[in-house]
Amino acid sequence: MKPSGTTAGKAVRAGKAAQTVSPGGRQAARDQQVAELLRPGQSIALLQHLHILTREGQLNQDSRRKLKQVYHLYQFIETLLRELAQSRPVAGADVVPDLSVADHGAGKSYLGFILYDLFFKHLDSGQVYGIESRSDLVDKSRALAAQLGFTRMHFLDLTVAESAHSALLPPRIDLVSALHACDSATDDAIAFGLAKQARAFALVPCCQAEAARHLGSNKALMLSRTPLAELWRHPLHTRELGSQITNVLRCLYLEANGYQVTVTELVGWEHSMKNELILARYTGQKKHAAAQRIQEIGAQFGLKALVDTRFTWRAENS
Ligand SMILES: C[S@@+](CC[C@H](N)C(=O)[O-])C[C@H]1O[C@@H](n2cnc3c(N)ncnc32)[C@H](O)[C@@H]1O
Repeated sequence: MKPSGTTAGKAVRAGKAAQTVSPGGRQAARDQQVAELLRPGQSIALLQHLHILTREGQLNQDSRRKLKQVYHLYQFIETLLRELAQSRPVAGADVVPDLSVADHGAGKSYLGFILYDLFFKHLDSGQVYGIESRSDLVDKSRALAAQLGFTRMHFLDLTVAESAHSALLPPRIDLVSALHACDSATDDAIAFGLAKQARAFALVPCCQAEAARHLGSNKALMLSRTPLAELWRHPLHTRELGSQITNVLRCLYLEANGYQVTVTELVGWEHSMKNELILARYTGQKKHAAAQRIQEIGAQFGLKALVDTRFTWRAENS
């Protein structure tokens, strides 16, 4: 039988047809990608400056993955901001209260810019602060914000820890975000938010070496004491368990400080390994059981020193 009459033959022909799409068809497919990407009122100039779109207005394929993460996070943050706006009504039906966001470990400020462009640009009020320790990135973000007329964006050349005490920030911040802020910068962002009485957090933690270092330094002792230490005997497991425990402690810490916490995926795992999204809304109900659990985990895993340095705020302030 001739292959051309078989299903396989048809598939081969279909495959070839797909490979030989006309230049016009390819252009149409690219235009479709860009159309799917754009939101109403979105600044093309911004997307070009962020290298998400090329000068010719085509989608930069290398930026797609980052953009997907940022868009997903933006959607969660937008929901939180709308909730915050409703919970603090101001005079006038359409007036949105002056909301503030601090984005920690901002990097090139993809998130801050997309947030401003899609949400704050259309309002008369609201401030976005980008905190970043690399001054070159801060300078570039300042220049871009000035160029685009994003006057309520502020970029501060500070570490996350320094920013909690900086006079350049207001005493209160509504929402704290941190997208892949390195290692313990997420913990500093939580401490910042607690100090600023943040009403919500959106955190996507990055590499987390601190807990792994503590687990590693106590390994021999813990192996002699408890079979649980098998969970982190191998270095790879030390790192993975360190990440897992760190995020569990962060969630408990937020609960102990009066936040309702949700943990979810940011995007599909195929897009990023650093994919855990911690969302927290302030309810004021401080969970004593969560504070207790932090202490118990510290004792069970030999992490008392970490718990005593990172997760003590509630004990001192409640
Ligand atoms: C992996 S990048 C993420 C950047 C950005 N949030 C994003 O997702 O595109 C982490 C950024 O956090 C910054 N960073 C790390 N630790 C920091 C700290 N303690 N304080 C301020 N910035 C920090 C780094 O300089 C880097 O720009």
